[in-house]
Parts: sequence; C-alpha cells; structure tokens
Amino acid sequence: MKINGKNFTTIWESDDSQSVEIIDQRLLPYVLEVKTLRTYQDVVVAIKTMMVRGAPLIGVASAYGMYLACLEASIRNDEFIDFVEKAGREIISSRPTAINARWAVGKVIDAVKSSNNYEGSIEQALKIARGIAQDDINSCKLIGKYGLEIIEKIVENKGNETINILTHCNAGWLATVDWGTATAPIYMANERGIKLHIWVDETRPLYQGAKLTSWELFQEGISNTIITDNAGGYIMQKGLVDLVIVGSDRTTIDGFVANKIGTHLKALSAYDNNIPFYVALPSSSIDWSMNIDAKDIPLEVRSEEEVLIVSGWNGSEIKELELTYKGANALNYAFDITPPKLVTALITERGICKPNREDILKIFPDEI
Ligand code: MRU
Repeated sequence: MKINGKNFTTIWESDDSQSVEIIDQRLLPYVLEVKTLRTYQDVVVAIKTMMVRGAPLIGVASAYGMYLACLEASIRNDEFIDFVEKAGREIISSRPTAINARWAVGKVIDAVKSSNNYEGSIEQALKIARGIAQDDINSCKLIGKYGLEIIEKIVENKGNETINILTHCNAGWLATVDWGTATAPIYMANERGIKLHIWVDETRPLYQGAKLTSWELFQEGISNTIITDNAGGYIMQKGLVDLVIVGSDRTTIDGFVANKIGTHLKALSAYDNNIPFYVALPSSSIDWSMNIDAKDIPLEVRSEEEVLIVSGWNGSEIKELELTYKGANALNYAFDITPPKLVTALITERGICKPNREDILKIFPDEI
C-alpha cells in the first residue's frame, strides 16, 4: 500500500539477499525509517521490540530470520541444524501469542532438514521465506475479496449511505506484507467506490490504532476517526457501526480468537447491539492443534513501562513522558481471547466460515 503516494511493503530482501529490510514501525507515523536485519538475532530484537509486529508479518519475519540463521550457521561451521533449531526456538519465544512464528519456523526447519548440504538448506530456507511472504500477500487479497462481499451485502440494505466499520489495533497492511487482514476488505471496498468511514480504536498502551491504522487509512484516502478504547460500546449503541472487523494472532480450531487486548470487549458490545463481528485471518494464524484449549494459548504480558510511559511527537522528535507518579504499578496484558459465540464468522483466504471445528475444516480439509 502507499506511503506519501509511493508503494511499499513492510519487509523485503536486500539486493544481494544477504539481509532483510523492514520499516521500523516504532517510529511511525512520525518518521519513515528502513532498518536492515543481518542476523537472526536482529530479527529476534525486531520482533521483540515491535519494529515489526502483527501476526502475519511476525510469521514472514520469522521465516526470513530462519534463512539468516542458515547463512550464519554455515559461516560458523557449527552443528548446522542445532544452530538453526536454536534460532527457531528463540524466534518463536520472542513473541509467543502469534502462532504464525511457530508455523513459519516449522516450515523452514522441515525444508532445511530435507536437504543434505549447507547450500541446499540455505536455498530451501530462502525459497520458503519468499513463498511465505508471497502467500501472505495472496491470502490478504483473497480475504479482501471475501470481506468485500460482506460489505456489499450491507450496501444492498443501506443503499448509498456511508458504511461504518469499527476496527481494533492494527490488522492493516503494516501487520502483514501488504493489504492487511481486517483492512483488505476496506481497501477493496474503497477501490469499488463504496462510501466508507472507519472507527479506529486507539489501542492502549502502544496506540497501534491511532498511530498505525488511522495513518495507513489516511494514506489511502479513507475517512476515519480515532476513538478512545472505551468509546466503541457507546458508538455501537448509538447505531453508528455497521460491522466490526478485527484480526487475530491465533485462533483455535474451535474458534477462540486471541487478539489485541480489548478485542473481547468490542465483541461483547457488538453482540449486545446485534452488530456483525468478523475476524479476518489467514490460515497461518489458525492453531491447527486438534486438542488445544483456549486456556493453553500463551498470552503475552509485556512490560509495565509500556503502560506507564507514553511517547509522541513534539514537533521535531519523538519524546517519552511519564504518564503518572513515580512508583505506580501497571499490568500489561497484550492479548485477550474472544469466545466463538461472540464471533459472527471468520474471513479466511478460502472463504467465510463459522468459528467452529466443523466449518473451519470444511474449507481446510487438508488440515485434518
Ligand atoms: O501487538 P501487535 O501490534 O503485534 O498486535 C497486533 C494485533 O493484535 C493484530 O490484530 C493481529 O496481529 C492481527 S494482524 C493482521
């Protein structure tokens, strides 16, 4: 999608394919800075500190991290596979909730193991990383196509009136390679000339809504309004929301949706107000373990500093400020779980399905 009229993706290879370039999302929307990741440890730091973030992008970065680990392992002449597997464990634990990291690391390790020399393994790792990046773009486009059908149905009932969509956090193109999950239907509806307005939850404590989603929609010329995290319920009661679309870091086979903290409250309010609540996600964000309980999903708890220190632009640089008094305690749950009874449907690259095992496996029979 566009930044100042120029097309970007969130991640790409350097010209010699020996490193990976990313947009440092910690600095957006104030500064557009590209960072180069040369080692898998760089990738771990980029994921941990949220230079790259959003489940699908974490998956793509993880795959490239594994490729960089392969390059490093061959130079070091260590036990190749031990080194690569250790890198995989570090990458997966750098942000534990998004299942995409585990999925991507697993794919690279399988490919690397099927090769019998360094060169072949490196080649395989790069091929898998490229494939995951391209599949992510394709999946988001398909999610956009299926999600557009939902928006078009609302247009049939509402006529020429503006469609109001509420979203939480950033499940936009910045959370993927391009297009986004929750935003792909929005971008496609916008291309069709459908009149849209997006309510953007600011998303405390890191403000991915206010700083990333609102900004990327603005860059595409889509009307949007930032609201405080607590305002969504009232706006829904007032009849100002036609549908909610959010993303997911991990959805279980039984349709329990782990996503940014606060998603559950929006789902409750949507349910209470009879507003459709959709979760847009690629299959790489589905946890295919057949016996996983939602309670087993590792929900990341981040530092209390993220709650107690706020950062913003003072006109010339990014500045940090203390939110409250010294010594205040804070607890920073980064994700919550929305049960399937509150979810209207999942929008995936294979189509729309109810959030339950039977319906999910109907469109993904290959996962049985
Ligand atoms: O902590 P973040 O910014 O990585 O959280 C992002 C979200 O919660 C997104 O909704 C989720 O990763 C889905 S992104 C398509």
